[in-house]
This record gives sequence, structure tokens and C-alpha cells, in this order.
Amino acid sequence: MNSEVTKSLNIGICGLGTVGGGTLALLRENSGEIKHRVGFDLRVTRVATRTLEGKDLLAIEQVSTDVFDVARDASIDIVIETIGGLDPALEVIKEALSRGKHVVTANKALIAEYGNELFALARQNNVALAYESSVAGGIPIIKALREGLAGNKINWLAGIINGTGNFIMSEMASKQRQFDEALKEAQDLGYAEADPTFDVEGIDAAHKLTILGSIAFGIPLQFNKTYTEGISHITPEDISYANELGYCIKHLGIARQSEKGIEMRVHPTLLAKSRLLANVNGVGNAVLVHGNMVGATLYSGPGAGAEATASALVADIIDLARHIKSGISAPVYPALGYVEMHDDLSVIGIEDIEAEYYLRIPAVDRVGVMAKISSILQDHDISIEAVIQKEAISETVPIIILTHTAAEKRLNQAIVAIEALADVTGKINRIRVEPFHGEAT
Ligand code: HSE
Repeated sequence: MNSEVTKSLNIGICGLGTVGGGTLALLRENSGEIKHRVGFDLRVTRVATRTLEGKDLLAIEQVSTDVFDVARDASIDIVIETIGGLDPALEVIKEALSRGKHVVTANKALIAEYGNELFALARQNNVALAYESSVAGGIPIIKALREGLAGNKINWLAGIINGTGNFIMSEMASKQRQFDEALKEAQDLGYAEADPTFDVEGIDAAHKLTILGSIAFGIPLQFNKTYTEGISHITPEDISYANELGYCIKHLGIARQSEKGIEMRVHPTLLAKSRLLANVNGVGNAVLVHGNMVGATLYSGPGAGAEATASALVADIIDLARHIKSGISAPVYPALGYVEMHDDLSVIGIEDIEAEYYLRIPAVDRVGVMAKISSILQDHDISIEAVIQKEAISETVPIIILTHTAAEKRLNQAIVAIEALADVTGKINRIRVEPFHGEAT
């Protein structure tokens, strides 16, 4: 640890892409205010970046292209990991923690998939691994759940936690833009992941939900148990039918404690247009959290982009700096908010949930089709709430059905039976509906 700790702290940044570059810029721009908040200077003394071209490296003492140089530098107190992805970020973090350095990361994949092991390593070395910026960009949702709501038992949370996906869905709904065109713009604006399938197939949101679910319910990180469904099967027609029924479609991450266990699921979701989350558009993120004492609370703001993410990341650096100044070598809070985890709680499979459903069924426009579909739904104990059947413009006509609450397992069986009907011409598009069970949200 830097011996002049009360006068300055040395920070090393690994990776100067969107988030790393934004962090450096923020630390420079707000250095005066940060000094007032912390009581001493936070100095970026070393950076490692794959390419030096076009980078503003003014006043940085040491620059290299090897990220391990930062993790191994004895003069660095806090290592910022903004490389992204797993390789080499995982090894860099392990190296830094093992050498007794605090680490701040924005890397949700790494926390969701390796967090259990990394937090244990941080604890062994009496240092912190901070990750506020890994979920929902600029929204301090980790601190809200872990500290601000710590007096509650969390019942559920639901969030729009992928800015790119929300941007695409918003553009498709409001401007009838094509999926590819909206994705391209999100990439140009720096919102999308290096591999945009992480955004559109829900993997990025599942990483974030895994982290939120752990902190909310005190369970270990279990990315492989988070149900993940993307937005690529949503068509402009679905958006338009949902709209007719009074709904919009949002890509949500939902974590809920039900009687059967913990639900962890990311999927497109119909939301009544009057709901708060239904009105979060563009790259905006928002998370609704329901605590048993406080009720529903909403956190919203920019979920991606250099400045927003840097805002959350620098908050972690400031937390650490304050702790270090107070002589506490590692922040006292447990990384996931629970000293004793709830080992008795398990994550249930998607087939064990209950929900309401939107079904778009492509069918031949022939007498009796609707009766056959209704009869199958009835046989599976599924009650219909609303139906739309459009005038046929070709041989086939989409039948849109909204169900009341039903067991997913039975719904899956009903879908198989309906798709087997001779009059049904293709796959059924199923989208879950989130009614929030009467909560004023
Ligand atoms: N690709 C992510 C998003 C960036 O669009 O939300 C922030 O994690």
C-alpha cells in the first residue's frame, strides 16, 4: 500500500476503451470535487492499453500495452479493470487481488460467472473487489440493494437492464425502425457489447440479473441457472398487437422469491402501458425493487455509455479511498451484502413458474380453428383473457391470445398440442406478461 496514503492514492487503469477512457476523463474533469469528497488526490499514475493511438495520456507516468504491468506494479493501490470479457480480465484481477490491491471493475460477465471465487480471493487478501458499474451503468443499484434496502426482505425486482435492447425495442415501437438499423445506431453510440449478440440474446441482461438476484436474496451467483431469452424473435407485428391490447413489450430481467424458490429470468415481457417501466425508453435502464417494508422503489437513469458507467465506477473508487483514509484496509460490507448466505434457497427452472402469456398463433383462416385452440387451452387449465383475430390478408391469419395466469409447464404442453393442429401453419410466438399482481408500479 502506498505509504503516503493520506496524501494521495495511486490508481492504475487496465483497458482504455469506452469505460476506461470515460473513467480517466471523469477523474480528470472532477478532480477538484473528488479531492473535497475524499480529502486527498486520486492520481492515475499508470495505464495499460492495447493501442496508444488517439489516447490522451497527458501526465500519466507509466503507459504500457501489457495489462499485467498494472496489476504487478507495487506502487498501485487500486486497479481498475475495464478490459471487459473474460480473458485476460479474469487473470488480471486475480493477480491484482493476490498482490493485495483493491480492484474496481465494470465487468458483469466476470462477476456473474466468477464472482464467488473472486470475492473469496479478495477476502483472503483483505482487499475489496467493487463492481457497482457492472449493473445498469450510472444507476447506483448495487449500493441501493445492498446498503439502502438492507432492512428489508426483498420480494421481487424487475428491471430494464440492457440499454441496447431497450434502445432497439423503443426505436422499433416509436419509429417503426428495422431491428438491424437500430442495433447499428446503438453500436455507433457505444452502448452495445463488443459482441452484440450478448445484448440482443439477453446474455448481458442475464449477467446483470444474476448479480442483482444474489444481492437481493443472499444466494451465491448462479449465472447458469438464470433463464435467458433475447429479443430477436419479437416482430413489429407483436409490438403492434401488444399495443392494441394496451401493452408495450420490454426486455426485462425479473428476480422473484416465490413459494417454490427463486425465479431468475430474462425475457421479452408485455407490460401494461401505464406501468412505470413501460415508460423507460431509449438507452435508459430502470429497476423496480419491492421490499417487504418499504414497498416498491424505482431506480432509473442511463444504463450504458462512457460517462454514466464512469460515474458508478468512480463512486466505487471514492468508497475505497474513504475507507483507506479511515484506516480500514478493506470495506466492511460483504461483497454480495450477506455475511451468511441463504443456502436453503434454490433457483427454480423456468418450467416451474406461473405467468400470464401472449400467444401469436399463425393459423389457416378456416371455420372451427379458434374452437380447437380454445379447447386445447381449456384441457390444460388455461383461461383466455383476450383474443384478437385480424382479417386474413393471405391464406393464414394470426390469432392473438392473452391468457390469465397459467403454469408454464402446462402452457408448454398446450403450445405443442396447438402447433400440431393441421390448421396451425407455424411456430407460436409466446411472450410472458408481467402484471405485478396489483402493485401500484
Ligand atoms: N451493452 C450494455 C447495454 C452496456 O447495452 O446495456 C452496459 O452494460
